[in-house]
Amino acid sequence: MRTQVAIIGAGPSGLLLGHLLFKAGIDNIIVERHSADYVLSRIRAGVLEKVACDLLDECGVGARMHAEGLVHDGIELLFKGSRHRIDMHGLTGGKSVTVYGQTEVTHDLMDARKAQDLPTIYEVADTVSLHEFDGQKPKVRYQKDGQTHEIECDFIAGCDGYHGISRASVPAAALRTYEKVYPFGWLGILADVPPVSPELIYANTGRGFALCSMRSKTRSRYYVQVGSDEKVENWSDDAFWGELRLRLDPQTRDRLVTGPSIEKSIAPLRSFVAEPMRFGRLFLAGDAAHIVPPTGARGLNSAASDIYYLYHALVDHYKKRDDAGLDGYSQKALARVWKGQRFSWWMTTLLHRFPESSAFDRRLQETDLAYLFSSQKALASLAENYVGLPF
Ligand code: APR
Ligand code: PHB
Repeated sequence: MRTQVAIIGAGPSGLLLGHLLFKAGIDNIIVERHSADYVLSRIRAGVLEKVACDLLDECGVGARMHAEGLVHDGIELLFKGSRHRIDMHGLTGGKSVTVYGQTEVTHDLMDARKAQDLPTIYEVADTVSLHEFDGQKPKVRYQKDGQTHEIECDFIAGCDGYHGISRASVPAAALRTYEKVYPFGWLGILADVPPVSPELIYANTGRGFALCSMRSKTRSRYYVQVGSDEKVENWSDDAFWGELRLRLDPQTRDRLVTGPSIEKSIAPLRSFVAEPMRFGRLFLAGDAAHIVPPTGARGLNSAASDIYYLYHALVDHYKKRDDAGLDGYSQKALARVWKGQRFSWWMTTLLHRFPESSAFDRRLQETDLAYLFSSQKALASLAENYVGLPF
């Protein structure tokens, strides 16, 4: 088999890149470890900044997002028992975010790929290997139905997430990694109940962080901060709702509608960056190169910004014989990735209860929040990061 770009991973990064390339007339094949249904069963975050929405529109798959996504002009921060609204729209000169689940984004991209009959090889398990990406003719091998297959390509896009094979195929000496593991996780619940509030509420409380989010007007997503060693089996739905209630202000607590969970899981919080993001003809994008804690809603958006740079760089290579974009990809993508890292780390530090924190640390956190709400400039900085920094 031969293609122009072999894409490893059919998550949002791989599917988005694949469809953009298809639209630009560049052949690609996606190789995915799991089945499409398995990929769609993963519940991930759901806040899209403009770059992600624009890319979906450019692919021609934005219709459902525009019809069903909820445009949010603000968020609320709850601390010391009161809610404070941050008017993102006003503070950023008219920008907003769209609440639309990552699962739906993946669904829309998979449907579009299927409708065009674009090659996607699912269920290759752990058989993928990458070859000769430091030369001119990279190859991807995988096994399917007991046979070994080989794809010859011009470039490999490693869009296979944090546990993928792409980053792992790079010689350790060529890679520098940066990591921070937070001493807690988020216990999340998805339930078919109306959201407690029309906007997201991020809560800093003495019992730990909580987040009230949503997927639609009838489906809610809630999280509470839990210890790193907490087990999801130990959390009944009632225990979850009880804990969430304790982290809300009285008015929100009274409005909370509870119900059986559709999904319940614990996600650890971690910051991770691998540098560089290019090795010869292998380009890393999305979670394969970086992970953020979910607090700043940057995960999918950072992935989308990588894809924006990589897609334009590949188009320039094929259509204009210009490799400046490919040569500058790693540096450009990483500059934006690190800004997303900084914001996610800051939001995480601002809003969580750290088990080791001293009285001094807690006073600093309180002062950070007090300063934020005393300064339009500080609020504008939060808002500008939340809606997505300019390119
Ligand atoms: N071979 C083929 N596919 C693989 C392999 C492999 N060895 N390893 C992993 N994959 C697949 C996974 O099964 C998954 O479907 O790569 C895909 C990677 O998808 P994601 O983990 O969703 O990563 P990405 O597409 O970069 O999406 C970034 O996901 O985790 C969130 O917060 C993150 O929102 C961000 C988004
Ligand atoms: C979510 O809806 O899952 C969500 C929203 C905002 C975040 C993180 C997760 O910051």
